[in-house]
Amino acid sequence: EHTVFMSRPVLHYTANSTWLNDPNGLVFYQGVYHLFYQNNPFDNVWGNMSWGHATSEDLLHWNEHPVAIACDDREDVFSGSIVVDEGNTTGFGTPENPALVAIYTSAFKEGSGLEGTQAQSLAFSTDAGMTWQKYAGNPVLNRGSAHFRDPKVFRYEDSSASFWVMVAVEAQHQQVVLYRSADLKEWEYLSTFGPANATDGEWECPDLFPLPVDGSPDHVKWVLVVNINPGAVAGGSGGQYFVGHFDGVQFTADSDSLVEDGNTNLRQCLWLDWGRDYYAAVSFSNVPGNRGIMIGWMNNWDYANSLPTSPWRSSMSLAREVELATIGGLPRLVQRPVLPADVGPTIHTIDNQEIRDSTVELPQADPASVLRVDSVQVIDAEILPGTAGTTTLSLFGAPGGDAAMLLSFEAATSQLTLDRRNSGNTAFHEKFASAESAPVTLEDGVLKLRVIVDHGSVEVFAQGGKVVLTDLVFPASGNLRTQLSVEGGMATVRKLTVAAVS
Ligand code: FRU
Repeated sequence: EHTVFMSRPVLHYTANSTWLNDPNGLVFYQGVYHLFYQNNPFDNVWGNMSWGHATSEDLLHWNEHPVAIACDDREDVFSGSIVVDEGNTTGFGTPENPALVAIYTSAFKEGSGLEGTQAQSLAFSTDAGMTWQKYAGNPVLNRGSAHFRDPKVFRYEDSSASFWVMVAVEAQHQQVVLYRSADLKEWEYLSTFGPANATDGEWECPDLFPLPVDGSPDHVKWVLVVNINPGAVAGGSGGQYFVGHFDGVQFTADSDSLVEDGNTNLRQCLWLDWGRDYYAAVSFSNVPGNRGIMIGWMNNWDYANSLPTSPWRSSMSLAREVELATIGGLPRLVQRPVLPADVGPTIHTIDNQEIRDSTVELPQADPASVLRVDSVQVIDAEILPGTAGTTTLSLFGAPGGDAAMLLSFEAATSQLTLDRRNSGNTAFHEKFASAESAPVTLEDGVLKLRVIVDHGSVEVFAQGGKVVLTDLVFPASGNLRTQLSVEGGMATVRKLTVAAVS
């Protein structure tokens, strides 16, 4: 049963032969997207934490580079962010060639004199992110805490002032702490947010950014992202968010973002993803037009170190473009996967087909329609569940059996469920077999799905990205059957396409 899953994801970043966790220092600079990440340069389990590095021009195809910021005798290099120091506020660069500055957590080791402390430190690059130097004055912000980490820094500007703002966590107090600085070296305390909503775990990897609501520049709201582990809605690790207001000092959540008794009402909290495998998600800095683009670690601390892959272990999610839209009268995040504008070629299509109590095969007999080692499948569907009790898309199906990853919509509860309990290798960890559900509201009777099927994962964007479910899956090799089943009535597939993207 403990077989090693051999096919590497195609459009999800993996380190060639090592371990990775959180995305760090996401920054767009001079036409290139930089993905730094928690990396163990020497092994494929967590340890020796350093910042690995990859770059991409399209957020889909990545090149791995040498380790950017390495652990040493004094410290492990934990999560953090990168800013482009345009005004040369640090003096690390020049006004003509501003430095990229990384703000990361030093997890101090025995013998460092600060053993057990987590404090914030700087490193900088003056060659567009390719090589890095730690600042001699580290750490720059130490509050004597053992759980103060994951700084996300951004430039704040209003009509009267402009300065750097840091959001970081006091992980075990379920608090986001905010600081400000003129030069990234000296920090002044601003305020604290939390505990609020889901608090049955450590708060980690926060982010805070403004977004226009429904694209209107006159109606800007702030989104505070707070990752939590364990205690997320699907169990273990996950990302929650709050919508509110930031005035340069304090983040205030809108009352409709706050849930009383969050831990017993987890499903009322706001979640980036309802699946098991989207964690430590943070946004890119310096993106033209201030578009919100996020990447998460496609994994869960419940079983992360046991994933049955080799020599790599773990991958990132696809990048997601995030926007605020009015949903049910309230500003909420909508997320769309970054894919080529024109996905294709289309390898299978259904048009206006009524299905009553039966199963339709999305033909796999045609070799062109099978999930290839060098491509992912993007399934776009508009389905009217109609009178059907359950409408199910089954993925990674066994040729002659019932093993599959099931994505089903149940009319009675209006829940969309991703079920990997019988999906292949689930035995590598007792917590892996699972089924996750999210509430979905049909729109004019329609369920709209965009499903990205890569080797080892399924990401589901429902209703144009209002609801997202992401789960890893390790099917037996050769289990590539895709089927659509309707039970308890009749559903209409208005349109369904399967495209191959490489
Ligand atoms: C989140 C996290 C962060 C920490 C990093 C260490 O997954 O625990 O809080 O900085 O991973 O690798």
